[in-house]
Amino acid sequence: MDHFHYRERELFCEEVPVTALAEKYGTPVWIYSKRTLLHHLSQIQQAFAAVQPVICYSVKSNSNLGILQVMQEAGSSFDVVSGGELHRVKKAGADTSKVVFAGVGKTDEEIRYALESRVLMFNVESEAELDAIAAVAGSMGIVAPVALRLNPDVDGKTHAKTTTGKKGNKFGMDIERASQLAAKVLADKRLALHGIHMHIGSPILTAEPYAEAVKKAVDVVTEYRRQGHDINWVNLGGGFGIHYRKQEALPASEYAKVIVPAIQAAGCRLALEPGRFIVGNSGILVSRVIYTKREGGKLFVIQDAAMNDLVRPAMYDAFHRIWPVKPSIDPPADYEGEIAGCELADVVGPICESGDYLAKGRALPPMQRGDLMCTFSAGAYGMAMSSNYNSRPRAAEVLVDGATHRLIRRRETYDDLIAHEML
Ligand code: LLP
Repeated sequence: MDHFHYRERELFCEEVPVTALAEKYGTPVWIYSKRTLLHHLSQIQQAFAAVQPVICYSVKSNSNLGILQVMQEAGSSFDVVSGGELHRVKKAGADTSKVVFAGVGKTDEEIRYALESRVLMFNVESEAELDAIAAVAGSMGIVAPVALRLNPDVDGKTHAKTTTGKKGNKFGMDIERASQLAAKVLADKRLALHGIHMHIGSPILTAEPYAEAVKKAVDVVTEYRRQGHDINWVNLGGGFGIHYRKQEALPASEYAKVIVPAIQAAGCRLALEPGRFIVGNSGILVSRVIYTKREGGKLFVIQDAAMNDLVRPAMYDAFHRIWPVKPSIDPPADYEGEIAGCELADVVGPICESGDYLAKGRALPPMQRGDLMCTFSAGAYGMAMSSNYNSRPRAAEVLVDGATHRLIRRRETYDDLIAHEML
């Protein structure tokens, strides 16, 4: 459930008409619903309540300080993958003792920064990284808490660019290799093994890969305990799927059903790193039609959002529902294929690449210059992956809370574009 809905053929975010937001803040504009953010977080909190998990909102999915603050106030912790993300969560007031630090390429500077910040643990991805963490911790005279990231060799059945848990991709390590590293940790006073980390991929629309992964994780923990490790944590990463097309995603409780009993049986603590599940359907991208044109037997709707704003369609062939803010036709239950009264169109941006589209062959009601349109499910990996390509200033971000709204990132200016350059 989210708090974007049509009332008498006009799109609202919570109590606020989207048209009013577009008028006030301009377009393209990202609009987030605080109620939806809180609702999705609480779904996970409730589904897993029996094991009192530490929920580490995955900052990479949307790192705006305003969003991080909402998460922080609602009791979420954070998963960070860079010094920059750690800086952000500290600015948002995070309790760093519950923050996990992941990523295949942590630099010594980042390791030092995370140790100084007393993070909960590092998700370690290789022997070389383990050595680096030990060296930095040693130089600081402290013990570094680590979790070994395993590659569970589980197929998450997701896009090739976002699958992470199969043998042969760059993430984590094989279970056999991890056992060697565990022995190494045991012998090293600068390190303490606290847990096992796995992330299968994203988005994952079934519970089975999690069932497989948690079983493997728990088996490994049991084995390591036997070897003398005081190991407690199982971190299953993120990846829970969301509704992009229609109602295709599982509720959090379905994932919990397969994960919670295994965690309870092993007497472990659970950490999760959800990003998309929380913020994906909490955000929309609103744009304005600049022109329409017909060429080569096709209708093109050219609007002011582009691949520099939302790269997911170009990069992952991602499907985002698109519909006018004030449509002449009620939104359909199914956005795929033909819709009565609609015409198929390519929704494109102004960027000089054929890959610059938000949708292809999409049924839309008649659109005109000046109309507002909404791209749904854009809260995760939207603004976070945006760029200034074609020297386009990044769009504004607005957070709606009931009948109120505020800017959480102002629109960039032309001067912002050149602010870091030198003549
Ligand atoms: N934990 C780890 C170790 C991850 O690599 C990721 C995502 C997450 C947690 C959060 O996954 P989520 O719950 O948000 O699915 N840019 C792509 C997605 C890349 C995901 C990268 N890792 C997209 O737009 O679909």
